[in-house]
Amino acid sequence: MAILEILKLPDPRLKEVAEDVVHFDRELHRFVADLEETRQAGPAAVGIAAPQAGRWQRIIIIDCSTTGKPVPNHGRLILVNPEITDWDGFALGREGCLSVPDYTGNVIRAARIKLRAHDPRGELQAYEMEGFEARALQHEVDHLDGILFIDRLVSRRTDLFQRKVYQKGGNRKKQV
Ligand code: NI
Repeated sequence: MAILEILKLPDPRLKEVAEDVVHFDRELHRFVADLEETRQAGPAAVGIAAPQAGRWQRIIIIDCSTTGKPVPNHGRLILVNPEITDWDGFALGREGCLSVPDYTGNVIRAARIKLRAHDPRGELQAYEMEGFEARALQHEVDHLDGILFIDRLVSRRTDLFQRKVYQKGGNRKKQV
């Protein structure tokens, strides 16, 4: 296992579109283990996407079970080739990102989603998500399409915030 380097803004590679996973093999499982170790390293993040670690394949990990206050969630999910099939409602919420360490921002996301994804063995699974977990999922799927949360702000002037807690080593668990 290894902790992978996280690409950070303004690295242009964060804008690349990731490709579908085709082979559900041991090499994929090794990468997923490294990605999970990377997610948990330093300030543990609720989510991470493979392109953030320099692999342009459609793989994400989310875990909203440890965000501090209890929110509806499925625990840790490793999602391969995820596809959002339904969106419902809207909500504004604060987001951070391992690739944008100095800022947080207010982003509008669907409040509830339905999702299809393969698990690491290649079996198709379906999920329904709401609230913070749905937000984290949408944020990570965006990474697969080369989109960062700062690309979704309505206004950089009113919806972008310099992060202060980072310097103090505060709670960074909510970043995705
Ligand atoms: Ni992110």
